[in-house]
Amino acid sequence: MGKLALTGGKPVRGPKAKWPQWPVHDSGDVALLSAITNSNRWSFDGPYEWQFAKEFAAYHKSKFGICCANGTVGLQIAMEALDIGAFDEVIVPGMTWQATAAAVLDVNAIPVLVDVEPETWCLDLAKVEAAITAKTRAIIVVHLYGCMTDMTKLAKLCRDKGLYLIEDCAHQHGAFWKGRGVGTLGDIASFSFQESKVLSSGEGGFNMCQDRKLFERLYSLRNCGRGYKDDMTNAIQSGNFRITEWQAGILLGGLTRLDEQVKRRDVNAQYLNALLAQIPGVLPMRRRKDITQASYFNFTFRLDWDILTAKPGINNSHFGAALHAELNTGFEPPYEPLNACGLYKPHTKKRHHLNAEYWKKIDPTRFKLPVAEAAHRKNGLAVHHHVLLGATKDMDHIATAVAKVVKNIQELNVEGPQASRKRYRALAL
Ligand SMILES: Cc1ncc(COP(=O)(O)O)c(C=O)c1O
Repeated sequence: MGKLALTGGKPVRGPKAKWPQWPVHDSGDVALLSAITNSNRWSFDGPYEWQFAKEFAAYHKSKFGICCANGTVGLQIAMEALDIGAFDEVIVPGMTWQATAAAVLDVNAIPVLVDVEPETWCLDLAKVEAAITAKTRAIIVVHLYGCMTDMTKLAKLCRDKGLYLIEDCAHQHGAFWKGRGVGTLGDIASFSFQESKVLSSGEGGFNMCQDRKLFERLYSLRNCGRGYKDDMTNAIQSGNFRITEWQAGILLGGLTRLDEQVKRRDVNAQYLNALLAQIPGVLPMRRRKDITQASYFNFTFRLDWDILTAKPGINNSHFGAALHAELNTGFEPPYEPLNACGLYKPHTKKRHHLNAEYWKKIDPTRFKLPVAEAAHRKNGLAVHHHVLLGATKDMDHIATAVAKVVKNIQELNVEGPQASRKRYRALAL
């Protein structure tokens, strides 16, 4: 019997210690949903949807905001609003949820995968610059987990090169860069309200922009192509990507809690990072000083295998399994790199076979992503944001467990009891 819970020792947190739940709701939300049900106004430019859109945009200091079906569609219609389409190149980080690149494919453009920075897993701007060609139309930046790339530099690069900057804010509702809300730092932005996200309606999405013409195009694109305010002379081709009043109702409830939750997570994350920084072999992620409020979809950190003295073949999955056993919550490697991602398979759909050259260009294996690969296969770990809603003593538990696994790392065996293989539901998406 070893010292680690995975090898039969006593866990840092017993089974009775509960983590905060996610998602959350209160009786006001239930009352509002009931009122919506009774109102017989369930969808299509309903009053709650527009109330939410106004308030959510205002919280981020955005001029315009509009709801849509989900964060994948939000990215798609953002590109369509900018008239990005067939054969255009769009730069996408090599580490992100597959939807960021899939949306590019769905407008018949070419996702150009670019590697990320080791300390943030967000776009590496030197590599972005090297990937720009005459065909590049836009860069999609993903504010990943709880980190950001240098948004001031990226915005300048886009201005200098005449490229659109699209923010994928699926992870970071309520994050601010130099006092400006995410979603307002580029030309257009997309958010997700899928269940695991920091503001959720089960499913749902949102677009922000600062330009009225773009806003009116977004309105049409999510609304079967109808012109804004039913101006049919300006109708365009599109589908139905609207949300329902129930989704808007639950989002209005969530929005009343968002700021307090984001702040609580940020305080806890900074406290936890300070503790992790003291553990040899553990590297906290970088929090850029221009982030005036960080928002965390997942809390992440890295392992330094030059310092950790584990048996050959031991990696972040084994470390995560040991943490899971100590803490009874899922610690997983970050997203698969998009050049080897089980759910990013451009060549499985005939509709993407525009011609032989396009087929070649959308092959994800042509891109080299060493930093994203190392983060997924060896160095990175991520835990869902619900843990950051806990108390200071919960952060102490996490740091104690990490230090315990580091100290007893020789107990980890490649063939030993593995991660509870059940992926934590929220991390799976
Ligand atoms: C970074 C990122 N972009 C886009 C999306 C897509 O959002 P949705 O699931 O609402 O379609 C997600 C969802 O997990 C995401 O994590």
